[in-house]
Amino acid sequence: MPDPRHFRLDGPGVTLIIAIIAQVPVALYWGPRLAADAADVLALAARAAANASPDVAAPLALTPQLGQGWPGQPGLAAHRDGRDWASLALFEAAAVTPSRLVLTSRDAAHGLLLTHDLRLDGDVLVATTRLDNLGDTALTVDQLAAPVLPIPADATRIIGLEGRWAGEFQTQVLDRPTGIWLRENRRGRTSHDAPPTLFVTDANASETQGRAWGWHLGWSGNHRLAVETLSDGRGSVAMAALHLPGEVRLASGESLTTPPLYATVSAQGLGGVSRRFHAWLRGRPEHARLRAKPRPVHYNSWEAVYFDHDPAVLTDLASRAAALGVERFVLDDGWFEGRRSDRAGLGDWRVDRAIYPEGLGPLIDHVHGLGMDFGLWVEPEMVNPDSALFRAHPDWVLGTPPAPQIGFRHQLVLDFGRAEVRDHLYAAIAALLTAHPIAYLKWDMNRDISQPGGSDGHAAAWAHVLGVYAVLDRLRAEFPAVEIESCASGGGRADFGILARTDRIWTSDSNDALDRLAIQRGFSLLFPAELMGSHVGPRRCHITGRVLAMPLRIATAMFGHMGLEMDLRELDAAEAQDLAAGIALHKAWRPLIHGGDLHRLDSEIGVNAFLIAAADGAEALLSYTMVTQPRGYYPATLRLAGLDPAAHYRLRCVWPPRLGDAAVLADGVRVSGAALLQAGWQPPRLHPGTALVLALTRE
Ligand code: GLA
Repeated sequence: MPDPRHFRLDGPGVTLIIAIIAQVPVALYWGPRLAADAADVLALAARAAANASPDVAAPLALTPQLGQGWPGQPGLAAHRDGRDWASLALFEAAAVTPSRLVLTSRDAAHGLLLTHDLRLDGDVLVATTRLDNLGDTALTVDQLAAPVLPIPADATRIIGLEGRWAGEFQTQVLDRPTGIWLRENRRGRTSHDAPPTLFVTDANASETQGRAWGWHLGWSGNHRLAVETLSDGRGSVAMAALHLPGEVRLASGESLTTPPLYATVSAQGLGGVSRRFHAWLRGRPEHARLRAKPRPVHYNSWEAVYFDHDPAVLTDLASRAAALGVERFVLDDGWFEGRRSDRAGLGDWRVDRAIYPEGLGPLIDHVHGLGMDFGLWVEPEMVNPDSALFRAHPDWVLGTPPAPQIGFRHQLVLDFGRAEVRDHLYAAIAALLTAHPIAYLKWDMNRDISQPGGSDGHAAAWAHVLGVYAVLDRLRAEFPAVEIESCASGGGRADFGILARTDRIWTSDSNDALDRLAIQRGFSLLFPAELMGSHVGPRRCHITGRVLAMPLRIATAMFGHMGLEMDLRELDAAEAQDLAAGIALHKAWRPLIHGGDLHRLDSEIGVNAFLIAAADGAEALLSYTMVTQPRGYYPATLRLAGLDPAAHYRLRCVWPPRLGDAAVLADGVRVSGAALLQAGWQPPRLHPGTALVLALTRE
């Protein structure tokens, strides 16, 4: 019989039950809010021994341990020079509040203490595992997972995120296999192709229906995500930082805490999971600090001039941007010493006087004079071999000699695990922020850490991440008003770890509005719109070569933290007029876009549709884009979500500015929320590449 001791955390919509079984803490239930007693769940979970199985099966512990004889993936793999490897930490004590459980378990024989910290913040579980080395000798920690949680046998679908440069946040849907679905990231940064996020859902779950579980590890380095299903039917999800050989060693008395696991679950499909993550992110103090003012519309210089900086041109671009309604001018790569291409200059964070003879002052003054604030691009973790910094400190880079350095955009990674490296880069960035009124930093990281060896010969990828966090934290403390964007060749560093010290994510280097729809949809699984950098790109997309109409480009960019990234001198009169109107529309609806509830809609193939609704249902914006030709003569009827069924809404088509043939027949009608939710709206026939935005206002 299981030990009857159990604990329970309830959020408004979720429940976690922990029981002590065979002296280890076990998550017995993690799912939508449970109306039942935990004791009943315990009573119903009893199993008899199966044939060819242990007499008493090891329970699925929060940290599955080798000393339990656990037949699956261990949550802890550690040793002292090959000994003390089969740990068995037994439950010792619990500190319990209504929203938090802290459970300690001790393995006296092997000198280990495990602490599980499980905190329910609204409907998001924030959970870590801590390991203390109580022994006299060093402990090498090969793996330590955040608390391992169960998934039911009938949640049979895995939705993972994958992608590449300029094609981030793509979803990959698969049937959950027996055995392990494992995704490892060894790129040293959060990565484009294996971000630390996954979803597990019922087979028939949709955006709006069915049970869905969401999991995210708040870590910006190597990681390991596993969905495991044993032959006895038990399933679990384990997420951990991935440790390279010997990378994490705890001296006697030292401890290691995993990056936090963020988990939630909803019975309202994937959309319900996303809204819970969004609400959690919005509730953080570091998010609220920016809520006081609207997030300004950006202009970014990158796709306009690349490395070809000319103060006269940039001054002209700033004037043109301000005239369109832009509120912040961001000077991208190319402003610092020796940076005429991507082959030189990284590391030398001083304004290049050959280009800016009077420094950045005149440009910043001009930008301020136009009523905009000023942002600057930096990439502090990197160095070009052709730079003064590298010539002075060739030993500061990560590498695995004698293997030759692997080229990657002609740059090497500085070892942020080293205090002198951190101090130097901190001082360089702090000097810029002190010398200039800079409101915003775009912090980039444009290569994988392919060879993460430190100068002492040990692996140093893990320490690098902590070092980057430390420098960012120090900058935040010293310059609290400066906003920071996380960029890594586009969206290669998008995670809750970096977001604890940054304010915006550069979603993707692709400004192709049609590609962006899918990228932004994937991004929105986890992150709300105000964190999503989304820019109106050039008429002809530099990355895909596709020529897309201005109204479509605007309709896609306006649903994030909007910006422009193009040579504004290319605009014809109609495009400039549309752009000004689009920016004004974004500003008018910005409080809703940046604060409302996102409802991605289930729609036919070739259509991208979502709605952002005020929490009280008073108003909503519907975005509807025809990406490819529909199958029939008419697009399928679209059922909306997030509205008040009992209320009446006035529909107005607010975008594009000129509809032409695509008149929206329902424009101006007043209908019930119930009709929109249950019967749905017949979209007009539209050319592919046309986007409509409908405003719905409760009357
Ligand atoms: C990365 C970023 C771009 C731009 C360039 C500059 O690719 O994602 O937006 O800043 O670096 O080199």
